[in-house]
Amino acid sequence: MSAASPLRPQTNACRLAVDLSGTWLFRLGDDVGDDSGDGDWHGGIAGGIPVGVPGSWNDQVPGARDELGPAWYERRFEPPPGTFPLAGREAAIRFGSASYAASVWLNGQFLGGHEGGQLPFALDCSGALRDGENVLVVQVDGRLARDRVPPGLVPPGDTHGRVFHPDVSYDFFPFAGLHRRVELVLAPRDGIRDVRLETTADDAGALLSVRVDAADGDVTLTLDGAPIASPHRVDASALWSPASPRLHLLEVELRRDGVLADRYALRTGIRTVAVAGDQLLLNGAPVRLRGFGRHEDFAVLGRGTTPALAARDLLLMRQLGANSFRTAHYPCDEETLDIADRLGLMVIAETPAVGLYFGDDDPDGDTARRQELALGSLAELIARDRNRACVIAWSVANEPRMDYPGAAAALRELCDRARALDGSRPVSYATDLPDAAGVEAADIVFLNSYPGWYRYPGRLDVAESVLGDTLDRVYRRHGKPVILTEFGADAMPGSHADPPSMWTEEYQAELIERLLRVADRRSYVAGTHVWAFADFATAQADHRPQSVNFKGVFTRDRRPKLAARRLRELWQPADA
Ligand code: GCU
Repeated sequence: MSAASPLRPQTNACRLAVDLSGTWLFRLGDDVGDDSGDGDWHGGIAGGIPVGVPGSWNDQVPGARDELGPAWYERRFEPPPGTFPLAGREAAIRFGSASYAASVWLNGQFLGGHEGGQLPFALDCSGALRDGENVLVVQVDGRLARDRVPPGLVPPGDTHGRVFHPDVSYDFFPFAGLHRRVELVLAPRDGIRDVRLETTADDAGALLSVRVDAADGDVTLTLDGAPIASPHRVDASALWSPASPRLHLLEVELRRDGVLADRYALRTGIRTVAVAGDQLLLNGAPVRLRGFGRHEDFAVLGRGTTPALAARDLLLMRQLGANSFRTAHYPCDEETLDIADRLGLMVIAETPAVGLYFGDDDPDGDTARRQELALGSLAELIARDRNRACVIAWSVANEPRMDYPGAAAALRELCDRARALDGSRPVSYATDLPDAAGVEAADIVFLNSYPGWYRYPGRLDVAESVLGDTLDRVYRRHGKPVILTEFGADAMPGSHADPPSMWTEEYQAELIERLLRVADRRSYVAGTHVWAFADFATAQADHRPQSVNFKGVFTRDRRPKLAARRLRELWQPADA
C-alpha cells in the first residue's frame, strides 16, 4: 500500500485502520504558535479549544460562523499494540475530507497537504510515527479564492448575479474543517495497491472483471466465499438494482510462497448501466430516477458527516419511494455510499466543480488553474467511487457559466476525461443553460429548471407548459435522455396559504406535483430530482431568509413538509 492507493482503509489480518475521530484541539488564526515554539508543531498547537471531528468549525465554535481560516487542529494518539516494528508495513494518515486545503505534521515532521474539500487523501507517516504518544497537527484553510474549485470572490459579471456574504459563487454555505473521519492506516508495503471492478452486460446476466494491481505474488479471488477467476459471469438474479440491491463479498488475497501477504475485501453490487437512444438502462432495462439533490448539511455539524444522518436521509428517501439522489454539489461521504449500495439508491456522483466560469482575460491564470483542479478532483472522485454499484453516472460540474469562448471546450475536456477514466458510466454536467454549446459533450442532459419560481414566479398555471416546452426543445436538439436534475420552490416550514402562494408549503407541493406530471408524460425523461432533499445553510443574501435555502421537502432537522407527504403519495401510493 502506498499512501496514494485509492483503496479505502480496512482492518483485517494484514491491514489496520484506526479511527482518530473525536475531540481535537482547535484554534483559529494564521499563526497560532506551536507549544515547542520552533514552528514544527511537534509540541502541538498553543492554547486550543476542544471541537468535534468530523464537523465544520463554523457552526460548532461560537462566533466563528463566517471565519474561513486558516485554522489549526491537534490530535494526540497512541498507535495500537503491535504497531511496532512496522516490519514490511507502511503507515499513513488518511483524511476523508479537509475543506478546503490542508497541511499536515506528525511529531513535527511535515507529511504533506491536499487541496480540494470533499475527497480523501492519505499521507505516508511511516518515518514520523512513533511508539507512545504522537502529536498530529493539521492546518485547514477554507478561505475563498478565484483560483479554487469551487471558486469564491468571483467578479460579479462572472456569477449567477446573486450577491452573498461570505462572497461565494454558489448557493450553499462554505463550511470549513475536518468534515469526515481521520484514520491511522497500516498496510503491507508490498501488497495490494488497487482493485478495479468492471461489469459488462452478458445475455441476461453480467460479466464481472476484477483487475488487481499488486506487488509480486499470487493473487486469488473469492466471491461470497467461492473461488472465482476474472472475468466471472453472474446470473440476472445476482445483479444489483433498487428493487433488489444484492451485495456480494469480493475478497482479494495476495500470497508469496503460500504465505498470506495482503488481503482486501469489498462488499459490492454487480450491475450494468448504459445509455441507449433516449433511454437510460440499468441491467439492460430502461430505468427512471426519482429523487433529490442532496447536500451534506446539518445544524452544528455544518458539512461534517455522521452515518446516523446519512442513514436518516437515505431511509427517508426510501420511505418516500425515491430511488436516487445527486451528491450536490460535491462528492458525498463514503459511508453514505455504503448505505446507498445497501438500500439500492442510485447515485449521480458530482465533483466539487460548481460555479465554474471561464474568463479569458485572465492575467493570473485562474481559469487554467480552476480547470486543472476540476480535472484533478474528477480523477480523485472516480478513483474513490468507481467500484460502487450505486454510482450510476458522473456529473463533472454544476451550472458552469457558459457565455465564454472557452466554456464548451472546457466542459468537453471534463466529460472526455471522465469517460477516459471510466467508460462504464454515463457522463454529464448539471446545467441551467441547455441551449448553450457544451451539452453535446454529455451522454445525458442534466437540466436544472425553475419554472414557477425563478421564471414565472407565482405562476403555477404556466409552469407546466414552460417546463414541457423546455424539455421538448432540449430533446429535439440533443435526442438524448434528459434528467431534470433540479426543479422546485422554497417553502418556509409551517407557512400556509389557500390559494397557494410562493414560500408556502402548498405552493411547493403543488408546483412539484405539476412539474412531475409534465416530466412523467415524456418517455425520454430518464429522471426527476427535486431540489432539494432538505433545507440547507447558505451564505447571507437578500433572497435567503435566515441564510437558508428552503427548497427542501424536509426541513433542515428532517421534519417533513407537505411536499414530502405529496411525493410519498405519488411515489409510494401503496403505503402513503
Ligand atoms: C441552482 C443551483 C443550486 C441552488 C438552486 C436554488 O440551480 O444549482 O445550487 O441551490 O439553484 O437557487 O435553489
